[in-house]
Amino acid sequence: MSATAPRSLKAFFRSFALLFSKDAAAYYEYLGDDVLEAQHAGFEDPDKPLWLNLGYWKEARTYPKAAEAMACLLADAAQLGPRDELLDVGFGFAEQDFLWITRYGVARITGLNITPLHVERAMARVRARSLSDRMDLRLGSATDVPFAADSFDKVTALECAFHFDTRERFFDEAFRVLRPGGRLALADCVPFPGEKLGFLSHLALKRWSIPVANMYDRDEYCRRLAAHGFTNVKAQSIRNQVFPAMMKYAALRKQGRSMHEAVVELTPEEEARCAGIEAWARNGGLTDYVIFSADKPL
Ligand SMILES: C[S@@+](CC[C@H](N)C(=O)[O-])C[C@H]1O[C@@H](n2cnc3c(N)ncnc32)[C@H](O)[C@@H]1O
Repeated sequence: MSATAPRSLKAFFRSFALLFSKDAAAYYEYLGDDVLEAQHAGFEDPDKPLWLNLGYWKEARTYPKAAEAMACLLADAAQLGPRDELLDVGFGFAEQDFLWITRYGVARITGLNITPLHVERAMARVRARSLSDRMDLRLGSATDVPFAADSFDKVTALECAFHFDTRERFFDEAFRVLRPGGRLALADCVPFPGEKLGFLSHLALKRWSIPVANMYDRDEYCRRLAAHGFTNVKAQSIRNQVFPAMMKYAALRKQGRSMHEAVVELTPEEEARCAGIEAWARNGGLTDYVIFSADKPL
């Protein structure tokens, strides 16, 4: 048996055990320092960006640029600015928060995340950047927010709300902790309108800790945001600028290219027909990627 075999056997059992985990933390501990499965490099490269979203590839050709563009798209939807006290749930390793502090000048960011590895690493990065007076990242769930009503100007959820048990419980919590006139913005994965879930989709959802209760499309999503009290509800599907390039990026990494070497070229035709979406659909049926925003009335 080769020296790597026990490691892969261990990885296989860890991957299988995800079917029985109680929440998404086990999945993210397994994923490690990379958005792609089996690409965890043990945090050995201090220059490796620790993004965990699928990226917005409208102009970006490399993954770090695409992940950053996604964070900017969400920041623009939230209208982030220097007066904002922000609650950011599901912050991963906090890449987006450092960007929002430096590029958007956000006054203060409080974060909640259920994955201990993410909170520990992110807080160490906050200390290393001397940002402890402006960033407070804690272990906790977006569905049980430990802050008083009317505490924040903005609430953001970058590619994480599909995990929440349930997403609607989070809508309630976001509405409660937002100040009147405050804004909620989400980058979220949902089923494409009319899409049906097969048996394999249910297994994939279980492995990724995505509650079936969250499987409704963007139109229903907007209705539910409104039912929770939000106004000015907006939804923009960006799936053609997410999935085709991400599928190509994943293939390049599988061939051995590094994160920075993997340069994705996409034709307008591939973007227009959302190339690769059938293969992506086998991952659980979340084939729409949508930027949502909604306001708490004054
Ligand atoms: C796909 S990652 C996105 C990370 C980050 N926003 C980014 O773009 O790099 C999803 C994140 O949501 C977090 N998460 C999942 N369920 C959560 C919950 N109930 N409350 C808070 N965070 C949660 C995970 O731990 C992980 O950090």
